[in-house]
Amino acid sequence: MTVASLQVPVIAIDGPTASGKGTVAHRVAQALGWEVLDSGALYRLTALAVQQQGIDPNDENAVAQAAYGLDVKFQGERVLLSGVDVADQIRHESVGNLASKIAAYVPLRLALLERQRAFQQAPGLVADGRDMGTVVFPEAPLKIFLVADVQARAKRRCKQLKEKGFSANLDDLLEDMRSRDLRDRTRANAPLVAAADAKTVDSSNLSIDETVKVVLDFWSGVGFRAV
Ligand code: DC
Repeated sequence: MTVASLQVPVIAIDGPTASGKGTVAHRVAQALGWEVLDSGALYRLTALAVQQQGIDPNDENAVAQAAYGLDVKFQGERVLLSGVDVADQIRHESVGNLASKIAAYVPLRLALLERQRAFQQAPGLVADGRDMGTVVFPEAPLKIFLVADVQARAKRRCKQLKEKGFSANLDDLLEDMRSRDLRDRTRANAPLVAAADAKTVDSSNLSIDETVKVVLDFWSGVGFRAV
């Protein structure tokens, strides 16, 4: 247990793809004036680097090396990889699918562990991902497991992609999402699972505002004090 882990609070928001955790995490962080960690972006950035550098995606150690070597900066909406803004590129389904595949590799998860923990900076951090509450920030005073049914999530992702000018097909997205969910939930290492002390929030029928309020209400109830 580190000093940071006791003094700088973390709200961990884990859940399946397109459950709204990214938007909710940003909005909660904004409301509290905290930092935010989009851990999925680090897996996506590794996938993009693997594609760009022509690395064999089946070579677990080479993929982990690519992660150690990532030159990444998050600047508001911009995500810089070696100085180039790739925020839109990493949202592409092919990058997401490769990210989901390589996320099962133990060496890669280890390579990204300290990079993620370095985001725990005062006054606080909202971290979104799959294993924020179980592995990366197990001492987080608030852990949210955000779920939504797969139809609702596919519709949201479809809308998001179209808004960004990408073509999107609902049936293909549903199929992709089901297989990605299955892979994320059943992998041996750091699977997508609610921490024992997580609060499960189902956002299928909640607006973003309502979901943010649920999380902030939970946080008010925690009564966190740094030691
Ligand atoms: O949250 P996202 O869809 O951007 O994540 C992309 C992939 O990265 C996802 O399929 C699984 C993986 N991931 C992970 O294994 N652990 C995390 N903490 C975040 C993402």
